[in-house]
Amino acid sequence: MANSSSHVASFVPFVFTIFLIFNIAKAQSNVTRGSSLRPTGATTSWLSPSGLYAFGFYPQTGGYAVGIYIAGIAERTVVWTASRETLPLSNNATLRFTTDGRLVVDQPQGQQISISDTRGIGATVASMQDSGNFVLYDSDRRTILWQSFDHPTDTLLVGQRLVPRQALLSCVSETDHSIGIFKLSMQSDGNLVQYPNLGFPNGPSTAYWASGTFDKGPNVTLNLDSDGFLYLLQNSTFYIRNLTKGGYPREDAIYLMKIDVDGIFRLYFHNLSNTSQNESSFIWASSTDKCRGLGLCGVNGYCALMNEAARCRCLPGFDFVNPESWSSGCKRNYTAETCKIQDGNEGNLSQMMTTLKNSRWEDTAYALPKASNQQECSLACMKDCNCEAALFTGDSCRLQKLPLRYMQVRENEPNVGFIKVYLSSVSNGSDPTIYTSIEVKKVRQVMFFVIGVSIISFAILILLLSGVIMWRSHVWAYKKISEHVNVQLFEDVGLRAFSYAELEKITDGFKEELGRGSFGIVYKGIIESSMKIVAVKKLKQELAQEGEREFQTEMKVIGRTHHRNLTRLLGYCCDHGPERLLVFEYMTKGSLADILFDPKSKPSWSERIRIALDIAHGIFYLHEECETPIIHCDIKPQNILMDEYGNAKISDFGLAKLLEHDQTKTSTLIRGTRGYVAPEWHKKLPITVKVDVYSFGIVLFEILCCRRKLDNNLPSDEAILQDWVYECYETNELFKLVNDADVDRKTLERMIKIGLWCTQEDPSLRPSMKIVVLMLEGTVKIPVPPNPTSFLSVI
Ligand SMILES: *[C@@H]1O[C@H](CO)[C@@H](O)[C@H](O)[C@H]1NC(C)=O
Ligand SMILES: *[C@@H]1O[C@H](CO)[C@@H](O)[C@H](O)[C@H]1NC(C)=O
Ligand SMILES: *[C@@H]1O[C@H](CO)[C@@H](O)[C@H](O)[C@H]1NC(C)=O
Ligand SMILES: *[C@@H]1O[C@H](CO)[C@@H](O)[C@H](O)[C@H]1NC(C)=O
Ligand SMILES: *[C@@H]1O[C@H](CO)[C@@H](O)[C@H](O)[C@H]1NC(C)=O
Ligand SMILES: *[C@@H]1O[C@H](CO)[C@@H](O)[C@H](O)[C@H]1NC(C)=O
Ligand SMILES: *[C@@H]1O[C@H](CO)[C@@H](O)[C@H](O)[C@H]1NC(C)=O
Ligand SMILES: *[C@@H]1O[C@H](CO)[C@@H](O)[C@H](O)[C@H]1NC(C)=O
Ligand SMILES: *[C@@H]1O[C@H](CO)[C@@H](O)[C@H](O)[C@H]1NC(C)=O
Ligand SMILES: *[C@@H]1O[C@H](CO)[C@@H](O)[C@H](O)[C@H]1NC(C)=O
Ligand SMILES: *[C@@H]1O[C@H](CO)[C@@H](O)[C@H](O)[C@H]1NC(C)=O
Repeated sequence: MANSSSHVASFVPFVFTIFLIFNIAKAQSNVTRGSSLRPTGATTSWLSPSGLYAFGFYPQTGGYAVGIYIAGIAERTVVWTASRETLPLSNNATLRFTTDGRLVVDQPQGQQISISDTRGIGATVASMQDSGNFVLYDSDRRTILWQSFDHPTDTLLVGQRLVPRQALLSCVSETDHSIGIFKLSMQSDGNLVQYPNLGFPNGPSTAYWASGTFDKGPNVTLNLDSDGFLYLLQNSTFYIRNLTKGGYPREDAIYLMKIDVDGIFRLYFHNLSNTSQNESSFIWASSTDKCRGLGLCGVNGYCALMNEAARCRCLPGFDFVNPESWSSGCKRNYTAETCKIQDGNEGNLSQMMTTLKNSRWEDTAYALPKASNQQECSLACMKDCNCEAALFTGDSCRLQKLPLRYMQVRENEPNVGFIKVYLSSVSNGSDPTIYTSIEVKKVRQVMFFVIGVSIISFAILILLLSGVIMWRSHVWAYKKISEHVNVQLFEDVGLRAFSYAELEKITDGFKEELGRGSFGIVYKGIIESSMKIVAVKKLKQELAQEGEREFQTEMKVIGRTHHRNLTRLLGYCCDHGPERLLVFEYMTKGSLADILFDPKSKPSWSERIRIALDIAHGIFYLHEECETPIIHCDIKPQNILMDEYGNAKISDFGLAKLLEHDQTKTSTLIRGTRGYVAPEWHKKLPITVKVDVYSFGIVLFEILCCRRKLDNNLPSDEAILQDWVYECYETNELFKLVNDADVDRKTLERMIKIGLWCTQEDPSLRPSMKIVVLMLEGTVKIPVPPNPTSFLSVI
């Protein structure tokens, strides 16, 4: 049993041996106030009396970390890491046990990271103990104010307990001790469970290992004894589950339990009398299947064993987002995702279905069409613009959008998956042969079959189901939506008509408000049948006229679009008098304005670049890839929504303008939001798609600098962001704009130049969105931008 005093006793002879063997005599058992450590130099750590454990700096990807490691063996084994959210630490950091008894790390930029929380009481002495516990004592030198054993990271040491509501979180990699993507959670229901740790809610469906002790109540703990016995104890008394047998040799041996980078937790053994032994061997693992960790390969990827090692693979037509980091998942490695409903008989095929046998993924199906076999299921997805993947389970066909999460391909899985692959694209951004070279035979075979089946099943469906829905979607692909909104038609676009009562139920009586726009209020709701969270926008009634226009515009515009950087309209409601409601997919992360202007959620530099690119892709699609060009007219951070994967999506098409009949210009009353509106609007000149380019430029500056376009709290020369940017650009002092450590200066300069081009007063000088995308991607050179205000209009 894990009783700490008996534990220390058992440690004594063992500690003595190590002392002799390693002859590490510089042990400083007690650390006094005023002591400090640096990552480099003579003393980088404080050792335990025997020298077995050390508390101090050790290398970590990109710098250093502070924590506890086993110093007495050849291979440095980290068992605890401080402040994992703020890694890496700079090589100029200092760890200090301050004169007022706090344990802190001072970073060169002046920030101070607090390592221990002693609730305001200054500790008198600190001690690295031979058990691997680092303890801060009160002035009586006995009362424990703080100890590392109470704050486990990814490792459980002998004598340490994982108590209810605590969890071990895996590391990012063997050399990066930041928080990784798996957790082992000691739940208050008594169950010990492994989940992905990706920031999404977990539940039974995402658990990939459990002790099964869910009925044992709130006092269950996980314990490890010095003979390698790992077990769950209830009320500190009853053995309720023995994970290992225990009884392993205690002599010169050290055991520890760790949740590894791959999400499996293992009991490790180190032989202390063989100093040259490097390989830490494990004697027990929670699973022998190395692909067990759910989400190991990120979204759109799956794990497969190859020569006993876990390997990540991407779906057909996908590529790793970051080949160095598999868990970052896969994405389509080309941009075009324009959906055209295939007729099957005529036209060039632009999309196909590939099969992936024995697969399974998180079920977020949005539709379950009738399908009695694999081919019908594959066809159903093929025919549906919203569908990116389908899973045929034998009795259901589950259509789904990307990304696919928690994907697994394993032999005993009876389901068959289908993935849509786009072969040619409107923008011709990439070479379609890439995909055929990977999956050419399969694609062709499946496709051949699909076409055959499509004709037959079309006929059958028409006969059986009167063909109403299929027919209309078929017609829609070619038919132009008329100016007179025909609600019936929206159903064909895949939009669902909700009744008002239904929406009332979904939103629980319009209870939870998500936000307010100029045209109405947005509420959160849950569609119970599919557990899908949605955003319901209720258009203001006072603005009956305006509201109706907004409603119709939004329906018209979104009905015509399909792009991953535009929010999806799922349905509408207009059966309740003048009330008009729109149902959108719910964006978990809120608006770009929410995350950008809040220092707590400020995105990293690389995330910001990605967001800018996402927005540019969305606008490019609206301007140049749609059948009818669409001017959004109100691009601003409040109208960019963020999904759970950090994808930016343009929303709020209420002000958008369709350019019909080969129009390139239009004139209209001023629309949009002050500060983002292009100057030609104030001059009452005809407007073009370039007004969105201007707004994008302003938003780009805001993204890069994480501040608002206008901030009157700043000195007057900095208040207007756009002017301040140009000033800094001209004086070659761009670093004044962005003070983050991770900013790449070359990229910053490129981005600023793009923004300056976009915000030129003369619309004709502004690049098209296509050029903007190319410039953002770094494929075209960016000339030196002129002063944006050099264009002096006489009008
Ligand atoms: C660390 O300090 C050295 C000298 O004091 C300085 O040259 C270097 O730039 C500093 N590094 C960081 C990351 O602050
Ligand atoms: C270190 O501190 C502990 C607890 O305060 C004390 O029991 C022990 O005697 C001290 N050891 C040394 C070598 O000062
Ligand atoms: C454990 O303690 C709880 C109260 O904390 C008690 O309700 C429960 O019956 C105890 N379990 C056993 C097996 O004694
Ligand atoms: C169970 O846990 C609660 C709170 O953690 C504690 O108050 C209680 O004494 C514990 N019961 C037993 C029998 O350990
Ligand atoms: C678990 O281990 C304890 C202590 O060795 C033993 O008393 C108990 O019977 C074991 N329980 C099971 C289910 O093996
Ligand atoms: C540890 O290594 C020593 C020397 O190689 C060996 O004699 C001893 O049996 C090993 N101990 C264990 C528990 O494997
Ligand atoms: C120590 O371990 C290494 C690697 O496992 C082994 O090759 C070597 O023989 C061991 N040394 C002794 C003295 O057993
Ligand atoms: C053990 O690992 C260290 C560093 O990882 C390496 O320098 C050393 O050669 C290794 N020793 C053996 C016996 O593999
Ligand atoms: C797509 O992936 C293939 C294979 O990994 C690669 O050769 C090709 O360059 C990629 N295409 C694009 C546009 O990134
Ligand atoms: C299919 O594409 C080819 C060239 O890519 C073109 O010549 C042909 O006209 C297209 N067929 C149809 C039906 O669009
Ligand atoms: C698409 O691009 C490829 C190379 O990038 C080029 O060879 C091909 O002619 C282009 N096709 C069309 C239809 O523009």
